[in-house]
Amino acid sequence: MIVGGIIVLFLVSNVASFLVGSYAPSRSAVWDAIARAGFTNRETMQATQAQTSRMLEQQDRILPVDEQKRIMNMWNDLQVWDNTSFLGIRVMKNPMDLWMMQYIISEVRPDYIVETGTAAGGSALYWAATLDLLGLESSRVITMDIEDYTEAVAERGLWREYVEFIHSSSTDPETVASIAERVADKTVMVLLDSNHEAHHVLQELRMYGPLVSPGSYLIVEDTHLDGIPVAPEWGPGPMTALNEYLDTGGAELYEQDFTREAHVLTQNPGGWLRRKSQ
Ligand SMILES: C[S@@+](CC[C@H](N)C(=O)[O-])C[C@H]1O[C@@H](n2cnc3c(N)ncnc32)[C@H](O)[C@@H]1O
Repeated sequence: MIVGGIIVLFLVSNVASFLVGSYAPSRSAVWDAIARAGFTNRETMQATQAQTSRMLEQQDRILPVDEQKRIMNMWNDLQVWDNTSFLGIRVMKNPMDLWMMQYIISEVRPDYIVETGTAAGGSALYWAATLDLLGLESSRVITMDIEDYTEAVAERGLWREYVEFIHSSSTDPETVASIAERVADKTVMVLLDSNHEAHHVLQELRMYGPLVSPGSYLIVEDTHLDGIPVAPEWGPGPMTALNEYLDTGGAELYEQDFTREAHVLTQNPGGWLRRKSQ
């Protein structure tokens, strides 16, 4: 009798999950990542974990993955990322990602935020403002670019106080060595947002990966290029580099934190890497 009831329940739940599943594919990898997630700041952890859990639960129920990809493509085609600014300075990012990055900064409370690819400086200004609002007055942003488009942003007080701009290629060995020396034994977060060709991003991952402190983040930006799901014509880009990096030793240092994709629209699918504790 009990066994019969269990069998009926099993059949009913499987038929139900087939019907629901055809509408809302499982995001079990995301849920596994939530279970594994650990944060430096316990109080913020509880708040943000509850928020992302709620959002991901909603996605499981109402947003099929194909639909998410369609929205990401549509958003990219609208070129919103190319027409966004922070306090009047151009920033080439998805505002949803900027918001998620502010979660991470407030959890990790980095001494240094290192960014490759400055452009007009809107993103570095946003890191500076976040540090300032958190009262992290001795923290600094180090940002670098082969071009110098920083004339306007360099007028800002926040920039002068918190940001150091280096006019250099992100993979110049001397530049990386001097940054490594400065940030040694500090709490460090790194964002890779310069040349998005796979060979360059892979070089950056190998050079900057070891600089990030345990529990902090290495964010590989624009992994959505090369048809993941946008710009299929792009060719090997950040995702190719990321996979190569993880397959050749990177996975020993990092795990992909899928909870950081809870805002639905991200330019960095799979690219939010959390440094494992030693
Ligand atoms: C996507 S933009 C950076 C956007 C900026 N982080 C933001 O969010 O507003 C990419 C920048 O990378 C720079 N770049 C390209 N190759 C580079 C390299 N080898 N080293 C450093 N910067 C590079 C480009 O000049 C360009 O300004």
